[in-house]
Amino acid sequence: MNIMSVGFYAKFIGNAISKLEISDEDYILDLGCGTGRNACLMRNYLSEKGFILGLDVSEGMGKQFKKKARNFKNVAFKNQRIDLPFSLEDKFDKVFISFVLHGFPHEVRKTIINNAYENLKPGGTFWILDFNEFVLMDMPFYYRIPFVTIECPYAFDFIERDWKKILKKSGFNNFIETLYLKSYVRLLAARKA
Ligand SMILES: C[S@@+](CC[C@H](N)C(=O)[O-])C[C@H]1O[C@@H](n2cnc3c(N)ncnc32)[C@H](O)[C@@H]1O
Repeated sequence: MNIMSVGFYAKFIGNAISKLEISDEDYILDLGCGTGRNACLMRNYLSEKGFILGLDVSEGMGKQFKKKARNFKNVAFKNQRIDLPFSLEDKFDKVFISFVLHGFPHEVRKTIINNAYENLKPGGTFWILDFNEFVLMDMPFYYRIPFVTIECPYAFDFIERDWKKILKKSGFNNFIETLYLKSYVRLLAARKA
């Protein structure tokens, strides 16, 4: 992402988070939350009544997350896999997943999408920040070479799929999209019916 954004990643992620339509009392679930950078950015839009829960399988990420969020009472981390079915006690207004979904086989992605659906409140929104749909060979070589070199093999079939159709089958509708980085990256919102 740093290569594709020529070092403007921080600006890009800040802009993407500004588009999430966060209300100050939102409950937000961040799937594959990583270091907590995104959670801390989202937290800027919340009051004390809002809440963010980050889930990640990596204990190392958990350590970094907790360190980053140590001063925020309403930002929490849970060491949990997102690729197996789960249902949390709290339900969320928003589920956010950033650069995680493309890294799984397609059947596993469907489980993750079902987890988002299960843990959203009715009318809640699933926000997916990830690669857009595109034809790899149409990508200019100066993007294609780093993409092919760095990305995991599952990313190649991720970019070829019709994500709105897939999300519709899982019960989502009302799609809104914002495109970034020459349209190779998309923020896709999908509403739980
Ligand atoms: C590319 S990083 C993205 C991190 C963060 N969302 C971001 O945008 O900076 C992918 C994250 O997904 C986590 N992850 C991978 N497999 C997972 C799984 N099965 N369950 C939960 N988290 C997982 C990794 O530990 C890592 O933190």
